[in-house]
Amino acid sequence: MTGPRLTPLAQSLPASVPFVGPETQERARGRPFRARLGANESLFGPSPKAIAAMQQAAAEAWKYGDAQNHDLRAVLAADLGVPPETIMVGEGIDGLLGYLVRLLVAPGDAVVTSEGAYPTFNYHVAGFGGVLHKVPFAGDHEDPEALIAKAAETGAKIVYLSNPDNPMGTWHDAGRVQAMIDAVPPGTLLMLDEAYIEFAPEGTAPPLDPADPRVIRMRTFSKAQGLAGARVGYAIGAAPLIEAFHKIRNHFGMCRVSQAGALAAWGDKEWLAHVQGEVARGRQEIARIARANGLTPLPSATNFVTIDCGGDGALARRVLEELTARDVFVRMPGVAPLDRCVRVSVGDAQALAVLAEELPAALAAARG
Ligand SMILES: Cc1ncc(COP(=O)(O)O)c(C=O)c1O
Repeated sequence: MTGPRLTPLAQSLPASVPFVGPETQERARGRPFRARLGANESLFGPSPKAIAAMQQAAAEAWKYGDAQNHDLRAVLAADLGVPPETIMVGEGIDGLLGYLVRLLVAPGDAVVTSEGAYPTFNYHVAGFGGVLHKVPFAGDHEDPEALIAKAAETGAKIVYLSNPDNPMGTWHDAGRVQAMIDAVPPGTLLMLDEAYIEFAPEGTAPPLDPADPRVIRMRTFSKAQGLAGARVGYAIGAAPLIEAFHKIRNHFGMCRVSQAGALAAWGDKEWLAHVQGEVARGRQEIARIARANGLTPLPSATNFVTIDCGGDGALARRVLEELTARDVFVRMPGVAPLDRCVRVSVGDAQALAVLAEELPAALAAARG
């Protein structure tokens, strides 16, 4: 008898997933979290109009979704002022990142990202046999100039930048990002991940220019629209690249119910403004709680605040563990020196009250 013959690449990959989800942790702990502040979800929920649209669409779930995402692409294109053929809708940014890497990266191809940046991208690169080259953050920011220099040096197919950034929550202004686009070496594509753009100050996103083949931008309904579990994201890029996605995408990857929810969520600008206001308030509250405990919150243009615990990675890891033991779900960056921090998603008043209540004891225990 023989087993399935994995490819040498699949055989070589570690048996790991980039994220251990909160539900997995809850099963292991034998009890639920009281404050779910670790996955940068929107605790304010989706727009009530999106919920109603999804309820209605549920009865039609026997039909596959529209494989071309026609209606959603049409409204996105009209509102963003770009042609529909420059927009690709997919199963969240994570799904689109997988398609992009599959399109561009063959085994052995160079890809550039930052040491400690969003790990799902790295996971896809590894899965297609790409070779990752990493440059360090500079002062808790991703370093556009160093990323470009590394891309030129390695002949990279893709260079990844998240702006604003996860896990630090920091950001660059549009001018710096546009300068990066203008410096992309021939043969390289800038993958600009704008998952948190709705929470960033005006002037963070350079103008959209889908005629420019040097960059693809990705955005999501998971954060500001509160639809993380519905899995809807979109890419904006040059038409020939967007067209290529259709060669390799899942034919019916998009959930019909999610398509209806995203369409209604996009139309509800009042709800978006409400969430943006709550997130701005919540960031201040997390910063206040951090300072009240002698910790330093980093400035954030996202729906989370990264808190410097004032020591090394081991101290931050103990803070995280002690918070977890007290039913508060948070995460932390994976590499030094970013790992001196814990990352706390903006929650509603109730979740942040739990954080305020539990942090002093968690800190005391972590400091021993
Ligand atoms: C930088 C960044 N990109 C992408 C994602 C995932 O987005 P999606 O839910 O659309 O897959 C996240 C989620 O935390 C993120 O932080």
